[in-house]
Amino acid sequence: MTSITLRRPDDMHLHLRDGAMLAAVLPETARHFARALVMPNLVPPVVTAREAAAYRDRIRAALPEGMAFDPLMTLYLTETTDPADVAAAAASGLVTAVKLYPAGATTNSQSGVRDFARVQGVLDRMAEIGLPLCVHGEVTDPDIDIFDREAVFIDRVLDPLRRRTPGLRVVMEHITTRDAVDYARSAGPDLGATITTHHLILNRNHILAGAIRPHYYCLPVAKRERHRLALREAATSGEARFFLGTDSAPHPDARKEQACGCAGCFTATNTMPILAHVFEEMCAMDRLEGFVALHGAAFYGLAANQARLSLSKRATAAAWPEKILGGAGSVTVFNPGFPVYWHVDD
Ligand code: NCD
Ligand code: ZN
Repeated sequence: MTSITLRRPDDMHLHLRDGAMLAAVLPETARHFARALVMPNLVPPVVTAREAAAYRDRIRAALPEGMAFDPLMTLYLTETTDPADVAAAAASGLVTAVKLYPAGATTNSQSGVRDFARVQGVLDRMAEIGLPLCVHGEVTDPDIDIFDREAVFIDRVLDPLRRRTPGLRVVMEHITTRDAVDYARSAGPDLGATITTHHLILNRNHILAGAIRPHYYCLPVAKRERHRLALREAATSGEARFFLGTDSAPHPDARKEQACGCAGCFTATNTMPILAHVFEEMCAMDRLEGFVALHGAAFYGLAANQARLSLSKRATAAAWPEKILGGAGSVTVFNPGFPVYWHVDD
């Protein structure tokens, strides 16, 4: 196969930031994607309907002339979130999901949840109205090894939460383990899971063996090779529960390349060529459209996009900038570490 035409993809987990960084990274996504589920972990976070509406306006204002892109908004769940505000935001079509960050789990998660009992009222309301909860699935307990945090979260937090909230639609965000793949498969259509581009490429050796590579550091951190293989199998399985959420998370290089560097891989620019490469390797090109454009939309009850995106395989490797110029300096584009011959057609 040397070319493929897909429905225009959706990125069901994206960090767009704000201000100058938003202006720099938004075109990187809008060039290929019709829609994205926009994460609310700004500083301060996007907690209320009013804040989500204002953020959506800023995203729309930052979109370059002639580009079409629909931001799907999320609310950041806090222990003081008002169920009525969430319900009103959902009813008006303003928000597509609510995001749960365990406090301290990742970048800008300080306002997240410590005591899960305190958000039960919101979760019950969401189950009633069918509004999905997107979950950053890692425990933050310092006793738990960072490579085990996702698996422990499933047992200690996610499964109990789902049992006490029947009917709640949940997305396990950016899964990184075979345990998460298995858990997603054990549940019915109320449970989905997003998989990032970089977790299909990286295992923990890529971050740590021989040298430390800060641009491969993200949360949840990449795991052992057997987990990466499980993710590749899941993403290319054709199962509707698995869909793309890139978790493209721009940080200025100066904040990544330092003694205490922050977490996030920036993959918006080259996600589609890399995914075509992976799906071809897995002999699953016929399943790429489902993963990037059908399964996520179906989970969120959205119509699939009408516009199309074509990719072709060429003799020369695809080229993309090593860095883009962001707000507070450059942002390094994810380097898969091998040449990619799939190009997005203009
Ligand atoms: C994300 C960020 O930078 O906002 N970082 C990351 O490593 N993925 C937050 C997140 O999704 O965990
Ligand atoms: Zn994220």
